[in-house]
Amino acid sequence: MGQLPNIAIVGATGLVGRTMAQVLEERNFEYDKIKLLASARSAGSFIRINNIEHQVEELSENSFEGIDIALFSAGGGISRKYAPIAAKAGAIVVDNSSAWRMDTDVPLVVPEVNSHDLAAHKGIIANPNCSTIQLVVVLDAINKVYGLKRVVCSTYQSISGAGQKGVDKLTNELFDQGDRAPSGDKHRIAFNTMFHPVSDFEGFTEEEKKMLFETRKILNNDDLKLAFTCVRLPIIGGHGESVNLELEKEFAIEDIKSLLSDSEGIILLDDIDNDEYPTPDIAKDTDPVYVGRVRRDSSVENGLYLWIVADNLRKGAATNAVQIAEKLVEMDLVRK
Ligand code: A2P
Repeated sequence: MGQLPNIAIVGATGLVGRTMAQVLEERNFEYDKIKLLASARSAGSFIRINNIEHQVEELSENSFEGIDIALFSAGGGISRKYAPIAAKAGAIVVDNSSAWRMDTDVPLVVPEVNSHDLAAHKGIIANPNCSTIQLVVVLDAINKVYGLKRVVCSTYQSISGAGQKGVDKLTNELFDQGDRAPSGDKHRIAFNTMFHPVSDFEGFTEEEKKMLFETRKILNNDDLKLAFTCVRLPIIGGHGESVNLELEKEFAIEDIKSLLSDSEGIILLDDIDNDEYPTPDIAKDTDPVYVGRVRRDSSVENGLYLWIVADNLRKGAATNAVQIAEKLVEMDLVRK
């Protein structure tokens, strides 16, 4: 690629969109022009990137002329409609919504795990679900050496996964004196736990269904035995995951720890005697996937416990999308 790419962020004013702009700046992602797109509500407002104020424009069908990479995070409806329009205009779309993830023509990519899948793209690449991303980074590292027989995962998820409206719901409820959700929702999130909306699959919630099918697609193993329960907690940022694995091969705990600390994108924080373990607070505003509480589970053969935490807006969304864009440039898959 001769020239630098032109970038667009669709949903630039949202929680993930703003983080995308920040991550592009922090990682010194080199681009020629950047276009920030959102709804008519925020068109005309300004967002500062690399000390330059950029005016937000209203998304339209003509927004993608001359754009090489379009990072989308404005919800599934917008992605379903505009991603094909952007791709037709010549951009490669990196879509953070769930709209295209299970489409067989769309690579679903976590760069540490399957960047090789990018080469087969047809204009749209999907960024996986936040909880899936942090899990597969760790699963893949272990799978390559020990093989996965079965995975059981319960998530402890922050409300920022529901976007600005989720954060607003929590803050409103925290300041409300009553014990019910002031929004009229059936459940409040303040001082409580909630599940995601139900899906059409075996009583799973949408999040549980996403984790099941996305994990299999990314690890390229349709038969992988997986069990999920996904829970939302009153945390603003950072998802935790309690993970129980059954491995194919025998292992020593120290070898698992060395493997994890040597793996790309993973930080091992595992010294319970000194209260050292990953928390959403530690992960907040950072890019790695943190792992701790590495223990043997003697109730099954080759059983292993892990606790995994990452910032869902960063590695779970914006950072992973920007890393995909970096790979696209590195692999010379961007036009120009
Ligand atoms: P806007 O701020 O103008 O509403 P979040 O997930 O944090 O709620 O953010 C959603 C993002 O998607 C925001 O940037 C929002 O823009 C954008 N968005 C929502 N609806 C549309 C739309 N119809 N057209 C373009 N962008 C939209």
